[in-house]
Amino acid sequence: MGNIFITGATGYLGSYVLDHLSRHHPDARFTILTRAKDIPEAEEKLWRGLQLHQTAEEFWETLGRVTFALGDLTAPGLGLDEDVTKEIVQDTESILHIAASLNRKSEKACLNANLRGSLHVAQFARAVEATHGLRRLTQVSTVAVAGKRHQEVVEEDTSIDWNRSDYDPYARTKKYAEYLFQELLPNTPRLVLRPSIVMGDSRHERTSQFDMVRAFCALADLPVLPMDPNLHLDIVNADFVGAAIATLHQKATLQHTIYHLSSGTASPTAGQVAQSTTPKGKRVPTFLPSLEPSFRMAINGMNSLPARTSQKQIRNLAHMGALLKVFWPYVTFDTVFNNQRVIQETNLAPTSFTSYGRALYQFATKQGFKYPYAPLPERRVHLKKPAHPFRAIPKNDVERTGAERKSPTPPNGSTPKVRRPAPQRPQP
Ligand SMILES: NC(=O)c1ccc[n+]([C@@H]2O[C@H](COP(=O)([O-])OP(=O)(O)OC[C@H]3O[C@@H](n4cnc5c(N)ncnc54)[C@H](OP(=O)(O)O)[C@@H]3O)[C@@H](O)[C@H]2O)c1
Repeated sequence: MGNIFITGATGYLGSYVLDHLSRHHPDARFTILTRAKDIPEAEEKLWRGLQLHQTAEEFWETLGRVTFALGDLTAPGLGLDEDVTKEIVQDTESILHIAASLNRKSEKACLNANLRGSLHVAQFARAVEATHGLRRLTQVSTVAVAGKRHQEVVEEDTSIDWNRSDYDPYARTKKYAEYLFQELLPNTPRLVLRPSIVMGDSRHERTSQFDMVRAFCALADLPVLPMDPNLHLDIVNADFVGAAIATLHQKATLQHTIYHLSSGTASPTAGQVAQSTTPKGKRVPTFLPSLEPSFRMAINGMNSLPARTSQKQIRNLAHMGALLKVFWPYVTFDTVFNNQRVIQETNLAPTSFTSYGRALYQFATKQGFKYPYAPLPERRVHLKKPAHPFRAIPKNDVERTGAERKSPTPPNGSTPKVRRPAPQRPQP
């Protein structure tokens, strides 16, 4: 079996996918694209994500199945050396493209990572296809491609409507990225997976992604909520989404090309969420939908406060304004995304946010919205030689000889010392 080439494995959802793949597919090997400058940094990045799921011993085992590609989605050829790209192309059996910029405020970040990045992944997929065929290209997209909606149950095949406006650059670029893969890879076995609002883990209280959680906690702390208690919130647990991505990617045959990874029509209402997540001893917020326009104005006001100021309270308000401005439309559009396809195809089902939201609130507020990352402990056991040697693939490395570019296979299977990229010449 060849390798799964994965982008975004070091991120929040990617860690769930890699953990699931490593546990349930013992023969699978992974090539992981990351922007780390060297192998130790790549390992540290991967450990930051995987420590949510694995002990250090398990992590070292997983690492024995990983080949790192130190590159960048936004660079031509994914920022990888040509010779090494050839090797990776030879090794690749399928592609799992998870990486993206989720920076909803930056058109530039979204354009570069989600469009130019996707183009480079598509070119890489074509190279694999031309060399020996590609089993599958899975693209992790988002339900946000459905654009502006109001009180709908959105179906996978009619979600994209080019006459509809989008909420932000993130949604716009993810929508176009789907189109890009469809048009550039018409004969490739493609799979498009669209998670809804991913928040928390149904099995424990921990999370390492806090943006949406912070907005949720801020709303939970308000005595009055300016929204209709009957509107539905399509929030989905990360453990379900990660398991669904891994399962669908590995499944031999699939009924469909597009799947929503969402809570669908079983999504709880805002009233149910408030009821279930309000900490014991606190009053459940009162819902006053008539205050919504004033609240939106307040969000805009907070968002226009200076984000860089020595006054902490102003900084916090500005940050909260920016977060709420981004997420408010997704909270109030009262739209859910049909998930019958994924349930039927995988026999997996999401867990209602009402059963774990309170634990998530308590963890996030107690931790001050920062994950207590543990440094990577020393490797205690001497592992067998990795199935594939780690490769260092320096970026911007045009001046080196081919022989120098490749890291040698480590003689004892340990992590090799990695050459740093050559210093960049000053721009004229
Ligand atoms: N989280 C959600 O609520 C949610 C909901 C719907 C859909 N999604 C989709 O799920 C996917 C993963 O989201 P996430 O929340 O896990 O994101 P995340 O935690 O921010 O992780 C982003 C990942 O993308 C990689 N990446 C970003 N820019 C890159 C670049 N220029 N070159 C190479 N790698 C790059 C990062 O890798 P390095 O830093 O190691 O380079 C990192 O692994 C995205 O496609 C997103 O659109 C997420």
